[in-house]
Amino acid sequence: MCGIVGYVGDDGVLEVLMDGLSGLEYRGYDSAGIAMAESSISVHKRQGDISALEEALPDGSVEATAGIGHTRWSTHGPPSDANAHPHTDESGRVAVVHNGIIENYQQLRDDLEAAGHSFDSDTDTEVVPHLIAAARDDGADRESAFRRAIGRLEGSYAIAVVFSGSETVYAARNESPLVLGVGDDGHYLASDVPAFIEYTDRIIYLDDGEFARIDESTVVVTDTDGTVVDTSIETVEWDAEDAGKSGYDHYMLKEINEQPTAVRQCCGERVSELERTIDVDSLSALSVPERVQFVACGTSYHAALYGARLLRERGVPATAFLASEYDTATLPVDESTLVVGVTQSGETADTMGALRGANGAGATTLAVTNVVGSSAARTCDHVMYVRAGPEIGVAATKTFVSQQIALAMLACELTDEYDDDLVEALRDLPDKLQSILDSSSGREIAREYLEADAYFFIGRGYNAPVALEGALKMKEITYKHAEGFPAGELKHGPLALVTDRTPVFALVTAGSNPTKTIGNVKEVETRGGPVVAVTDGCDDVARYADHVLEVPETHSALAPVLGNVQLQLVSYWVANELGRSIDKPRNLAKSVTVE
Ligand code: F6R
Repeated sequence: MCGIVGYVGDDGVLEVLMDGLSGLEYRGYDSAGIAMAESSISVHKRQGDISALEEALPDGSVEATAGIGHTRWSTHGPPSDANAHPHTDESGRVAVVHNGIIENYQQLRDDLEAAGHSFDSDTDTEVVPHLIAAARDDGADRESAFRRAIGRLEGSYAIAVVFSGSETVYAARNESPLVLGVGDDGHYLASDVPAFIEYTDRIIYLDDGEFARIDESTVVVTDTDGTVVDTSIETVEWDAEDAGKSGYDHYMLKEINEQPTAVRQCCGERVSELERTIDVDSLSALSVPERVQFVACGTSYHAALYGARLLRERGVPATAFLASEYDTATLPVDESTLVVGVTQSGETADTMGALRGANGAGATTLAVTNVVGSSAARTCDHVMYVRAGPEIGVAATKTFVSQQIALAMLACELTDEYDDDLVEALRDLPDKLQSILDSSSGREIAREYLEADAYFFIGRGYNAPVALEGALKMKEITYKHAEGFPAGELKHGPLALVTDRTPVFALVTAGSNPTKTIGNVKEVETRGGPVVAVTDGCDDVARYADHVLEVPETHSALAPVLGNVQLQLVSYWVANELGRSIDKPRNLAKSVTVE
């Protein structure tokens, strides 16, 4: 949702904060701001992206060594200079940045206003500096005032605070991500590691309910009672280069091209070609559950649909739920249920809510996530990392492929069924992905259908979730109307929308009912709809299609992984031709930490 950053040290606080905000811009980009503390606090903030903030920064050298920053994706109050963070109290003694939602802010604000405080913004966050200032006026020292204010909050937060006359940053976390960075010449905090990876790869993950105090030489983590917590420093396995664009115009294109590597990393030592087995260490303690329920949102939900199908094919009753609907479904959930949260970020509020509910109901929980130490990883009984590397583009690409591969391995591991062909196909998959990346005619197809009224995507079986994903990708980065359907559903209504201005992308691959899908293709053709077949050549669908996007033959369960890449490329090139903000589509954020 939003991103926060903090730094204390002598590496140039302004530069470190601005680098941090650039590394977090994928989390929100409708306004940004920083505060630097010396004897007084200087605050600079602007509506717009980080370049707008850059223009508002002071010229000349900065003496401060402590500061905080924020990049915003608005929830309470529209984007504006006044609603941008940091927020201060009236006297300017304290400045606060916040990611999350303070649910009881209206009550707190009413109380504060009744006590004479006046507010400048529409945000929930602004109550925090006022609460801290009120506690200071009551005689509390800085840390106690901060703790007292945090104790009044209900909701989710990662909060960082600076005080005038102090070179310390205070922080607290509850249900919003917060990591600390341990450097040689200072210390860092942020919503996510890309904010400071170019300065340090040594990190400490905070847990819910914990507080942190960082200054130039020390990092202290405490619990709600103020007792010091024993923390361990972990080393991140990727570097600043991995989090950069590496010469590509967009992160999304870079990340699409990283998919062969993402699959190699995901499989790694888990797939033994020699013994033809799949062995996921972290799952060895899991036995076959009576039922499996997947909970996920957006692209991750599409991966969950795919994972559920894989398990059902192996005889395990498995269902995928949209995480935001999970608590309204009347479901049997007990100790013989495995609830799998599929979440790239590991922070999505809807998914986290569903996982907490499942924990409460006594289910065994498993997080399938990309982010080491994320909330999902820490909340669940088990974790399986998809190992895609950092994904910065808001539209999920390489993490979707890695989720699919991880879920294929999970299905094998849970059921103890290692299909020789699948093992071999996993081994060959990176090269096949590469061959698509090297030869795709997605750009030409994109140009041909640039003016389309809408784009439709159809597929059956394993291809059905990829049809949904193809449409999601198209709409989020091009802002054009797109819909995905299980192919058989087309004739039950959506066919009415088909015209010669609505290209239909049909996923037709061996093992996913190609003959029936070709029947649906013919229905489109008869109504004058252009057809683009994404196919491994089975059943000769090319005869009925206007264009073909080829995918190499592979195991039937992995064909959709290949088909998806062709669809990603078409969406990317449509968005590129239309000049869209591909990495940061309007109204969207990478990590959605509100329900
Ligand atoms: C789409 C996209 C979103 C996310 C969804 C869940 O490209 O990225 O639909 O998939 O917000 O996010 P995670 O996987 O982080 O839980």
